[in-house]
Amino acid sequence: MQAQIKFEPSESAPVVNPNVYGHFAEHLGRCIYEGLWVGEDSPIPNVRGIRKDVVAALKALNLPVLRWPGGCFADEYHWKDGIGPRERRPAIFNTHWGGVVENNHFGTHEFFDLCEQLGCAAYVCGNVGSGEVREMQEWVEYITSSARSPMADLRRKNGREEPWKLPYFGVGNESWGCGGNMRPEYYADLYRRYATFVRDYTGNRVQRIACGANSNDTNWTNVLMERARGHMHGLSLHNYTLAGQKWPPSGSAIRFDEAAWIDLLKAALGMDGLIQRHAEVMDKHDPEKRVGMVVDEWGTWHAVEPGTNPGFLFQQNSLRDALVAAIHFHIFHRHADRVTMANIAQTVNVLQAMVLTDGPRMLRTPTYWVFEMFKVHQGGRVIPMKVQTLDYAHGGVSVPAVSASATRTDAIHVSLANLDPNSGVSVCIETGMPSLGVAEARVLTASEMTAHNTFDEPDAVRPAKLTTVRKSNDMIVADLPAKSVAILTLA
Ligand code: AHR
Repeated sequence: MQAQIKFEPSESAPVVNPNVYGHFAEHLGRCIYEGLWVGEDSPIPNVRGIRKDVVAALKALNLPVLRWPGGCFADEYHWKDGIGPRERRPAIFNTHWGGVVENNHFGTHEFFDLCEQLGCAAYVCGNVGSGEVREMQEWVEYITSSARSPMADLRRKNGREEPWKLPYFGVGNESWGCGGNMRPEYYADLYRRYATFVRDYTGNRVQRIACGANSNDTNWTNVLMERARGHMHGLSLHNYTLAGQKWPPSGSAIRFDEAAWIDLLKAALGMDGLIQRHAEVMDKHDPEKRVGMVVDEWGTWHAVEPGTNPGFLFQQNSLRDALVAAIHFHIFHRHADRVTMANIAQTVNVLQAMVLTDGPRMLRTPTYWVFEMFKVHQGGRVIPMKVQTLDYAHGGVSVPAVSASATRTDAIHVSLANLDPNSGVSVCIETGMPSLGVAEARVLTASEMTAHNTFDEPDAVRPAKLTTVRKSNDMIVADLPAKSVAILTLA
């Protein structure tokens, strides 16, 4: 099979905001506790309670931004429960996620310590559903003020003299659902009120992000843009990739057949049209594209692994999830003029995770490797392109076999995905730059569609050098194996 790509470079093409490679960590299942936080007395190597192995793995992704503390948890979180001496913090019930005890040992100071260890920006999501305006105002003051004021003094008393930087603040989460079951008109008014008190203290410039739509709900986007756009820097969008787009998700992450393979990839490709539809609504109100689309929850949502707490959303992660991630990044790049941030759900042990942990052990998932391979796209200028590809079809469902994207930084980076699990594809790239050669090429693939990493075999799926790339008559030709993701560096 063959596919053709033709670069159509343009100086006015947008740049991929590095934050599109952002993450999300919620107090849910084993994401925060065990996954990131083990406590200072743990035998698991840690820095001030935060796991060293996980931080090292995530740092290698150039993780730009981390959203916390939820998710649904955010609208029940009262930040003052999570400050001060840990033994005196109240234990609460995590009503959303598994009904487990939340001891509040990971709070504001621990989150900002994590961000500092990761070298990433903080994106805090505030409580609109069950929290007061004053509570939100005080949290921002506690985090960012260097004045002599009650909240800044409280922070100092708790051991932190200097304020932290808080570049992004979310005003509620899923306010149409777990965050309060609101109508968009009601939330738009509430948003305006709460966002007013999310203030800029001491030189900190905080971008206020409004809760956006659930998947297809363009009416929510329309109402928020109409009534509150002047008060926001970003409007979120949540969309999960479910097999067959059915709720609740019932398919296994690692036990599936070819029908489920193509079904999930087709669902992932649907993100393109979804962003397009919301972007058109935003364009109507904001043709200058001042308000960013912040896709702050995305990723695959499968049935939980057998024998695990259904409220913990723990799922394995296969080569199929890696293809879903690659497809999403290509779509985010295509909409780089509007999409300013995206946060995969979630970083560790929950949904489409980067790493999984089991006591002291940790593994990198196939999705992790896509983030690692694609990090070179962060901050790159998109190279528009024409892609001609045959379809891959199975059981009456068909999708384009090849998905691709290219960006330019100091070099040109081309990422490719072959969605066909049965046939390789030869991709000819007409760059229009005859001097370009192949500096590096890597591929992520495996012999089985269901291939995944386990604690006994943590490297079953990991990138390898792609040796089948060559220059031929001013073209770059890459022979991609079946079911693969590749990244080429051309220089
Ligand atoms: O990521 C899991 C949950 O999915 C989040 O808490 C919520 O915002 C969404 O429904």
